[in-house]
Amino acid sequence: MVVEPSVLPIPLRFGAYALDTATPDDVDAVVAAFADPDIARWNNGPRRPGETVHDRAVRWVAARTAWSPDRCSWVVRDADGRLVGQVSIHSIDDPAGTGEIGYWLTPDGRGRGIGAAAVDTATRFGFDLLGLARLELFHAVENEASCRLALRCGYLLEGTARQSFVYGDGLRHDEHLHGRLAADAVAPPPLPR
Ligand SMILES: CC(C)(COP(=O)(O)OP(=O)(O)OC[C@H]1O[C@@H](n2cnc3c(N)ncnc32)[C@H](O)[C@@H]1OP(=O)(O)O)[C@@H](O)C(=O)NCCC(=O)NCCS
Repeated sequence: MVVEPSVLPIPLRFGAYALDTATPDDVDAVVAAFADPDIARWNNGPRRPGETVHDRAVRWVAARTAWSPDRCSWVVRDADGRLVGQVSIHSIDDPAGTGEIGYWLTPDGRGRGIGAAAVDTATRFGFDLLGLARLELFHAVENEASCRLALRCGYLLEGTARQSFVYGDGLRHDEHLHGRLAADAVAPPPLPR
């Protein structure tokens, strides 16, 4: 590992956009993002009994203001500093050289190539600076947008994990497993509009 994730949150750039560290000022934007039905369904993070959405957003941001040995997280900001998404490399297993990537874009941020460019930028960081050999990406089989993003970012479809995850609708879904290797030659997606 070239960079120790527990030490430094490292900001990255792609075009006019930034992968930045979350701050408490992001809580309202995160509350709004959690209210989006697609994020609520496909990025079903852990909830605690009795916890309000605001409290959950505060906890979400706090968990992303520092990195840990098994997770690097960024929020995606546009040129005006607005939060338009998030990307995390989590489940990092340093000895194994593997990790998993996750993401969402706010409704306003979607469909402009921001997601693909953000995921590709984080992926290259995982390979070049964390020294990982392989990153995995899971999405529900029904989530076509996520599948297209994965393929656009060079994450090959490797199989279907049956009934492998309970999503925000409370149902167990089949998931596609995609994988990208550090050794794969992948052209970067175009910079977002
Ligand atoms: C999935 C998601 C991150 C895609 O982000 P995005 O910024 O809109 O994606 P991009 O604009 O970079 O597009 C990437 C690819 O996906 C395709 N795509 C984007 N939205 C799509 C949609 N709704 N349906 C089908 N394809 C779609 C694009 O056409 C592009 O493919 P192409 O280059 O082959 O044409 C975003 O839709 C989202 O956050 N959805 C809700 C939460 C979610 O699904 N999170 C992921 C959980 S695994």
